[in-house]
Amino acid sequence: MKTAITEMFGIQHPIIQGGMHYVGFAEMAAAVSNAGGLGIITGLTQGTPEKLANEIARCKDMTDKPFGVNLTILPSLTPPDYPGLVKAIIDGGIKVVETAGRNPVDLLPPLKDAGIKVIHKCTSVRHSLKAQDIGCDAVSVDGFECGGHPGEDDVPNFILLPRAADELEIPFVSSGGMADGRSLIASLAMGAQGMNMGTRFIATKEAPVHDNVKQAILAASELDTRLVMRPLRNTERVLNNAAVERLLIKEKELGDTITIQDILPEVAGVYPIVMMEGEMDRGAWSCGMVAGLIHDIPTCQELIDRIMLQAEEIIARMQAMARA
Ligand SMILES: Cc1cc2nc3c(=O)[nH]c(=O)nc-3n(C[C@H](O)[C@H](O)[C@H](O)COP(=O)(O)O)c2cc1C
Repeated sequence: MKTAITEMFGIQHPIIQGGMHYVGFAEMAAAVSNAGGLGIITGLTQGTPEKLANEIARCKDMTDKPFGVNLTILPSLTPPDYPGLVKAIIDGGIKVVETAGRNPVDLLPPLKDAGIKVIHKCTSVRHSLKAQDIGCDAVSVDGFECGGHPGEDDVPNFILLPRAADELEIPFVSSGGMADGRSLIASLAMGAQGMNMGTRFIATKEAPVHDNVKQAILAASELDTRLVMRPLRNTERVLNNAAVERLLIKEKELGDTITIQDILPEVAGVYPIVMMEGEMDRGAWSCGMVAGLIHDIPTCQELIDRIMLQAEEIIARMQAMARA
């Protein structure tokens, strides 16, 4: 399939694997890229420029297809070495960067000078327009359904995507709640040029996480995620578990007086323990409502092939309907 996104990123299928903390290692990104999508290494999981450079090199050993790097820009008292990470990306010959979190304007000049395409993940039309204004090449429009940080506007993709299509001039992909060929065709119908998936890619054979994580996603329904940290205006959609229930009780009891210190036991340092060691109740970890649509653990190749086949079948069915 050819869209503005496949052309921009030099990929076969308009399917992107969004950056995911402690999931987006070289193995994940290479598997998605080898299957014809765009795999993405998560920069902040590596943390330092040296480690990121090493991860990029490892990924290059596993694929000769294009892959990207995610740079998530978080508010932090001790921010990571973003200029160093950008240099590692440029020196590593990466051609696509997915930015997320805060406005990436400060990172753009060196990336653009190096000819790197930047796709910024946004949870609102106004942030998408800002991304377009500052010179991003594309946007990943992340609806309220998404795993991770859906922002504070709570607009689901059935509204957000056509709104983005009405306003944006640069191409965008849908993100949040995407799982299969139906998601892809619906996204294209609403004006997107492809789709981004997070949670769906965790439940694949190659995802380098503990099997407990994959089984938890399979066992979950669309009713099993919760929104945490809303009182801190840092809302995150996570899979419900004992730690999340504890966290939500704290949020209720402390109300507006809550600070990040109050919830550190439930959110700090959780990812390596959940993703690597499979201690599922250790804390809050991102997961989308799309878990309700995930029932198996295919390879990335099987998943992407299946999505594209289903998409073609839907197009054929619709053409037959239109002609009838
Ligand atoms: C476990 C997990 C970790 C994530 N970590 C990040 C991250 O570090 N940076 C980022 O930009 N997005 C992160 N995301 C968001 C994904 O890139 C993607 O936007 C989101 O998962 C899309 O929603 P979906 O899960 O419904 O497909 C994460 C998502 C999950 C499920």
